[in-house]
Amino acid sequence: MTPYGTELVVERCEPAAAGVRALVLRRPEGGALPSWEPGAHIDLLLGPGLERQYSLCGDPADRHTWRIAVLREPDGRGGSAYVHDRLAPGAAVRVRGPRNHFPLEAAPRYRFVAGGIGITPILPMLAAVEAAGAEWTLLYGGRTRASMAFTGELARYGDRVTLAPQDATGLLDLGPVLDGLPDGTLVYCCGPGPLLDAVEERCPPRALRTERFRPKEPRAGADAEFEVELARSGRTVTVPPGRSVLDAVRAAGVEVLYSCTEGTCGTCETDVLEGVPDHRDSVLTPQEREAGQTMLVCVSRCRGTRLVLDL
Ligand code: FES
Repeated sequence: MTPYGTELVVERCEPAAAGVRALVLRRPEGGALPSWEPGAHIDLLLGPGLERQYSLCGDPADRHTWRIAVLREPDGRGGSAYVHDRLAPGAAVRVRGPRNHFPLEAAPRYRFVAGGIGITPILPMLAAVEAAGAEWTLLYGGRTRASMAFTGELARYGDRVTLAPQDATGLLDLGPVLDGLPDGTLVYCCGPGPLLDAVEERCPPRALRTERFRPKEPRAGADAEFEVELARSGRTVTVPPGRSVLDAVRAAGVEVLYSCTEGTCGTCETDVLEGVPDHRDSVLTPQEREAGQTMLVCVSRCRGTRLVLDL
C-alpha cells in the first residue's frame, strides 16, 4: 500500500439523505480497482493533515467503481466539508486502501445494529449474508427518517429491517435484539460512541464486532516511560509519558504509515515481536488484544518496560 495513495475521480455524487452525499469513485482512465470485502474502508487523502476514512458501501462485485457516503459534520474538522463542497463530478481525489478492520465472519445468524452514517459498512454486509442464506435482522436508528441514508435500498429486505428514527421512536430499543442471543449469532454494530457503548454493555464480547468512527474515552491514569526496540532498523527509542510510540519512532527517522493518530483507523497497526502492549485503540477485537501480536502505535503503549516492534 503506497502512503501517497492512488488518484481517482468522482464519477457521480448524489444525496443519500439529509446531510449525506454518496460519491462514486473510479480510476481516471477506467480499469479495475483493488478488490474489497464488506466492512472495508478507504482513506481519502484530502490535503496535508486532512485524511479521512470512509466505509465502502457499494457492491464488491463491481470492480470498476467504489461508493462511499459522507455525512456533513458541521462541527467537524474539515474533512466532511471538503468532500461536500469540493468533490463534484470530475474532481480528482487521492485514495489509499482499501483495508478492513471490520470483516464479516461466517455465521448462521446475525444481528446488525446501525446508528446514523454507521449504516455504510453494514449495507454490503446485508447483501452478503442475504446471498449466503443466513438469518439476519437490522435495527437502524437515526435522528430523523430524512437523515437516514439508503432507506430506499433497504426496503427490499422487508421486515428484517427495522427503521427507528429517534424523533418518532426514541432511543434504539436494544433489548429485543440483543437479549438471549441464540448460540452462534454474531452482532455487528457501527454508529456513534454512545450506541456502541450501550451495545457493548448488553452483548457478550465473543459475539460482538464493532467499528468506531471516534475513539473511546481515554483511560485515566499516569503513563510510564518505556523502551521500544525497532527490530528491522536496529534502533531503540525511549517513549516518555505524554508521547506516543508513533511520534517517538518517527522522530528517530523511521517511517510508519499512519492517518488518524487517535486509534480508530487501523493504518498504523504494527507487529509486536516481544513485550506486552497496553492497547488503547478502538480497532482491535478483544481476541486480538489478548493475542498481543499487533498494536496501534499511535495510541497504545506498553505493559512493562520494553517492546520489540517489527519496524
Ligand atoms: S493512525 Fe489511525 S489507528 Fe493509528
